[in-house]
This record gives sequence, structure tokens and C-alpha cells, in this order.
Amino acid sequence: PRIVVLISGGGTNLQALIDAEAAGTLEGTIAGVISNRTGVKGLDRAESAGIPAQVIPHRDHDSRESFDQALMAAIDGFRPDLVVLAGFMRILTDAFVQHYQGRLLNIHPSLLPAWPGLHTHRKVLEAGETEHGATVHFVTEELDGGPRIIQGRVRVHPDDDEDSLAGRVGVQERRIYPEAVRWFCQGRLRLVQGRAQLDGTPL
Ligand code: GRF
Repeated sequence: PRIVVLISGGGTNLQALIDAEAAGTLEGTIAGVISNRTGVKGLDRAESAGIPAQVIPHRDHDSRESFDQALMAAIDGFRPDLVVLAGFMRILTDAFVQHYQGRLLNIHPSLLPAWPGLHTHRKVLEAGETEHGATVHFVTEELDGGPRIIQGRVRVHPDDDEDSLAGRVGVQERRIYPEAVRWFCQGRLRLVQGRAQLDGTPL
């Protein structure tokens, strides 16, 4: 299966997927990378891996709809079976989500449904949580609210700061995202009536 990965920045999750493909464990091919920002490290990672990359600057568009239309055209140019949001920091329109529903994944740095939105590590520390982590989910119209697929958990340490906690969450992200993508590429992971199913069993 053909995968398109959308990024906005560092691309550590993209790199995990690139490494999994190189190791033969992804069971899919990253056909293209698209960023909404120029000059980000994720684009270097794509180039080093020989993956075609494009930038669709959201600044070039005066509406969310216009940007999403250009994004969809670029994505569909790669003929994807799966679209993976990996550190992609844009809120997508319902039209975009509906166009890819069931083959659109995202990773969020919290144990959803807890802590949707931004700055999760800071909020978790401020709240004195003892557990934290990351979640891979199907993308639906509800921001950070789609059917959950897989989570990675970490203990919060008393001496954690945002960086140390983000670092451990990142290790979980880079473990669970390739796993979820592999399940999809194997045809085992599906979105059925609003629920994620693995081998026909609701997750
Ligand atoms: C990560 O925290 C990820 O959970 C979130 O975006 C951040 C950067 O991801 N989706 P990446 O390094 O650009 O993949």
C-alpha cells in the first residue's frame, strides 16, 4: 500500500516510519511527504530517504478551504491508500476529513481522551498526573477525538520537566505509529461504523 505522510516540523514520527519501511516491517511504501512549512527538518529526512516531498504553504491561501483543496490535490497526486498526519499542525476541514475518512491517521501526545489540544506535556505536569503517553487514532471531524487505535504509556517522574517527559513520550510515539500503520497496510485495521477494529475486533 502507498502512504503519504503530512508534516509541519521535525519529522521524528516520519523518521520512525522511514526506518520501519527500510527494515521491511512497515508493509507499505511511503510514496510522498507533504509539509505546510518550508525549511523544516522533516523535509531533510524525506530527501535523505529519497522520498518525493512537496511544500504547500498555508500562507499562500486565504482560507482553510482553499488550503485543504490544494493539499488534497497534492496528496491525491501520490495515489495514497493511507494518509498519515505526523506532527502536522493544521486543523483540517470536514471536507478534507470526509475525503480520506477511514484511511487518515493522526498521533497525539497524550492518553486520549485526556488532554486533547496543545501543550499536553506542560498541562500533564501542572496537573500532577502520574501517567502520560501518546495515542494513534483515526481522524474524524472531532479534533483529537477520532476512534483510538493504539496507545503508548509512560510514568511521569517527580523530577520530569517538559523536555524529559516529551522525550519519553516520543519514544512511545515512534514505537506505536509504525505498529498502527503496519496493521493498516496488512488490511487488519479498519474504521467500521465509527469504531476502530483490528482483525474484526473493536479496539
Ligand atoms: C509530536 O509531539 C507528535 O506527537 C505531535 O507533533 C510533535 C512533533 O512530531 N503530533 P514530529 O517530530 O514532527 O513527528
